[in-house]
Amino acid sequence: MNDILIIDPDTKAQLTKSSEGLLQNGLVKFPFKNGAYRLVSDSNYTENFGKEWNTFQTTQIDKHTGNNVSKVRLFAQTGWKENDFAGENILEVGSGAGRFTQILIDYTKANIFTVDYSNAVEANFRNNGPHERLNIFQGSIYDLPFAPKQFDKVICLGVLQHTPDFKNSVQCLCNMVKPGGQLVIDFYPIKGWYSKINAKYMLRPFVKNMDHQRMMKLIDKNVDWMISAHMFFKKIGVGKIVNRFIPVCDISTTVPKGLSKAQLREWVVLDTFDMMSPAYDNPQSLETVSQWLKEFGMEQIDASMVKFAEVFEAATIRCTQKQ
Ligand SMILES: C[S@@+](CC[C@H](N)C(=O)[O-])C[C@H]1O[C@@H](n2cnc3c(N)ncnc32)[C@H](O)[C@@H]1O
Repeated sequence: MNDILIIDPDTKAQLTKSSEGLLQNGLVKFPFKNGAYRLVSDSNYTENFGKEWNTFQTTQIDKHTGNNVSKVRLFAQTGWKENDFAGENILEVGSGAGRFTQILIDYTKANIFTVDYSNAVEANFRNNGPHERLNIFQGSIYDLPFAPKQFDKVICLGVLQHTPDFKNSVQCLCNMVKPGGQLVIDFYPIKGWYSKINAKYMLRPFVKNMDHQRMMKLIDKNVDWMISAHMFFKKIGVGKIVNRFIPVCDISTTVPKGLSKAQLREWVVLDTFDMMSPAYDNPQSLETVSQWLKEFGMEQIDASMVKFAEVFEAATIRCTQKQ
């Protein structure tokens, strides 16, 4: 069905897929469990994301919410068309609960290889598996189980700022793109000196190591007044400044329009946990990342703030691996 060469990231030995796991010389090297090949254990710096996506498994998945935010975002950022790419191989890195995996499966005909470092791979499988074109791996961007330069397309959305070495992460993604193939990435942008004047960056040093269950409870307990305060300050025209100091996600620019009250509350708890709990939060500028991509030999670098679904914009770069 597809011709992607799977390897042991350490030894580079070839592995074959079976229902028991990834095999080397007929023996299981990495097990297959709950829908994913497991190259790493759950115990790593992304445990917060495992909790987040297994708790809020369906909150941002289009087919469950009834909206099309993930679809609109994916096609706006990539510039791709629906029902394309039959026979091609797409690698998605950092898939979380699989909001974009769903779109790739449902709206392209490509074979999808998707990787996440956390046990969010289980939520992704429950949302999108089993499917003959879907292959899920729990592994790291730094140790991907694929031989270099094989994928027609590599996509990494919402991930890079949460990795410990942004530049190395970008290089690892470039290494996966085949000659003439495309890479699409996005990340939290540094827009100016004011980017870090925000309750998130003030509080994170104190809360990022907090027990995740405790943090989730604390957010859930306080979310209603924080939503009311955010809406109030927005209504009286001072939201852009005052809301920076309320420790809640930026509801006006990160939550889609048209959600029910309950859906909005759930989305805000999820996004607030997502902004407070990560071990790493390293925004970057479009210029710096474009420069790195040039260093790594990528061509046709197209960097811009892509707008979609009325309220959103994302710092996005599309580029091509040289032939
Ligand atoms: C904010 S979530 C975004 C998930 C998904 N792309 C989305 O937009 O819903 C970031 C994801 O990146 C994953 N991640 C972080 N570091 C990673 C690494 N080194 N390798 C692979 N995935 C990683 C996390 O586990 C998490 O699921």
